[in-house]
Amino acid sequence: MCSIIGYAGPAGAAPILVRGLRRMEYRGYDSVGVATSSGGKMSLEKGVGRVSEVNEARGLDALPGTVGIGHTRWATHGGVTRANAHPHSSSSGAVAVVHNGIIENFAELREALEAGGFSFSSETDTEVISNQLQSDLEAGGGPKEAMVRTLARLRGRYAFVAMFGDGTLAAARFHRPLIVGVGRGAYLLSSDVLGFVEQTDDAIYVGNGDFVTVSPGAGGGAELRVFGFDGSPARRQVTKISKEFADTYKGEYAHFTLKEICEQPDAVLRVGANTPGAAAAAAALVRGAPAGSVYVTGSGTSYNAALVAKHVMLRHGGVRVEPIMSSEFPHSPVSMDGGSVLLALSQSGETADVIGAAAAAKEAGARVASVVNVMNSSLAQESDVVMGMNCGPEIGVAATKSFTAQLRAIHEVTREIAVGRGGHLPRPGAVSAAISGMLEGQAGIKALAREMRDVSDVYVMGRGVHYPIAAEAALKLKELAYVHAEGIPGGELKHGPLALMDEGVYAVMINPTDSTHAATLTGAREIKARGARIIGVSDARSDVYDRWVRIPGGDEAAYPVTEIVPIQLLAYYLALEKDADPDYPRNLAKSVTVE
Ligand code: M6R
Repeated sequence: MCSIIGYAGPAGAAPILVRGLRRMEYRGYDSVGVATSSGGKMSLEKGVGRVSEVNEARGLDALPGTVGIGHTRWATHGGVTRANAHPHSSSSGAVAVVHNGIIENFAELREALEAGGFSFSSETDTEVISNQLQSDLEAGGGPKEAMVRTLARLRGRYAFVAMFGDGTLAAARFHRPLIVGVGRGAYLLSSDVLGFVEQTDDAIYVGNGDFVTVSPGAGGGAELRVFGFDGSPARRQVTKISKEFADTYKGEYAHFTLKEICEQPDAVLRVGANTPGAAAAAAALVRGAPAGSVYVTGSGTSYNAALVAKHVMLRHGGVRVEPIMSSEFPHSPVSMDGGSVLLALSQSGETADVIGAAAAAKEAGARVASVVNVMNSSLAQESDVVMGMNCGPEIGVAATKSFTAQLRAIHEVTREIAVGRGGHLPRPGAVSAAISGMLEGQAGIKALAREMRDVSDVYVMGRGVHYPIAAEAALKLKELAYVHAEGIPGGELKHGPLALMDEGVYAVMINPTDSTHAATLTGAREIKARGARIIGVSDARSDVYDRWVRIPGGDEAAYPVTEIVPIQLLAYYLALEKDADPDYPRNLAKSVTVE
């Protein structure tokens, strides 16, 4: 995913755009660029690297003018090069565009434009939008008419902001986020409220299939107009955005990732509080569905939460749910109809694979209940029931507090399904206290990270509901610390992975004292006999562990939540040991809005 931003108003545009881009950098951060318009002349600077680097090298924030657009990129079409960085100007320089998403028919449009004499200097699909807008502008009318003609030609899922030579901005939204920040005589057009939260807390959520224009108004301020893609006028409400977005700073923490890990004791207490009745509504859908017709889906960390849901919902709610990885949804033998229910888990609510799974479910007539953190996300808008994770903005690319919030949401839905039978599920206060206890052990985890700094292979093992935690632990180690890590179902050890165990390996055993304990200990001994070092994540000490990471005991259903916290910390501190930036892992973006 990328971030797009536009500004038109009384102040200098470039510094505002650069500040907004810094705030949204988590969305994609391989290259960055800004274009402004001043006195009918466009200025454009861009480059490969993080916002601060490119700004320092190319003076993005010094560009002149009170109108401008900006972008941070996560490469999809074309490599990470300056030529592919946004903004992209049209052949004549009459239009510049920043874009998030995919134009599916870009090759066909490009061919027609090239045949008409338009030239291209990048490999991106974005340049097709700027050239198409120029072509449609040359056909007569102004920016609005050009937008209507161009939008009718584009296929795909996208949001973009275009800047025209006369200083008009135009922005369109089709299945990708676009929000207008409404300031005093000023408008900001952005992928995310974080792009403008420093300027205003008044926002308009642009409808899917709408576009807006912002042009110089009669009284000196900017004027906003909203249209459907066919050019018919539309009206949208101004809403207040949550104040919590304004607090999205690292504060005393070295990184967002650490801040978000440490926010978990509070975050788990707030799950669902912004959507009263949603857990009960989701549970009612599940209870009303025929046996075998409830599915749960997600990607990455959210899929690992879906795997936990399978165990928790059957064990504590008596309902069988089938987890399906969202990217596998189109290729899986899913049989859905009007009686089926899909539970969709997604922090961002913008992950293309998850949205695709939800769309397929809706098409089959099924009901969709989603658990999201971003309440105005595309997934939320397309769901029958929406439960809020309510854990506050998660900026670190690695999902941390959203995972524990998802696990809590699963508990709440299950409690409602079970009515009277969910007594074994932990209360939020108990989960919160257990996480706080885990966070107190940070010094030990830091020391363990130092010891592990040269490790190249880590295998994480767990059985039953602890296997998804092993998978999530391995994911954290991979993406934050760039260590080869695998989550393995403990019982599979003898069926292959044992061959990999030797002195160079660390094996992390997720091993609380429940029914999985004895078998996992046996596995640990087999691994130790091959020379590997054993880290036991458990509420009980054992002589087989070279390092014991103690978790609170006593509450079986709370184990999965507490087990992951020390591994999140381990992956974070290991990233620091390896001089990796934990907030912005290489090659990744916070949410993957392309399939
Ligand atoms: O926003 P979502 O929960 O839909 O994101 C799904 C995955 O892309 C995400 O969990 C990803 O795997 C994280 N980087 C994991 O830390």
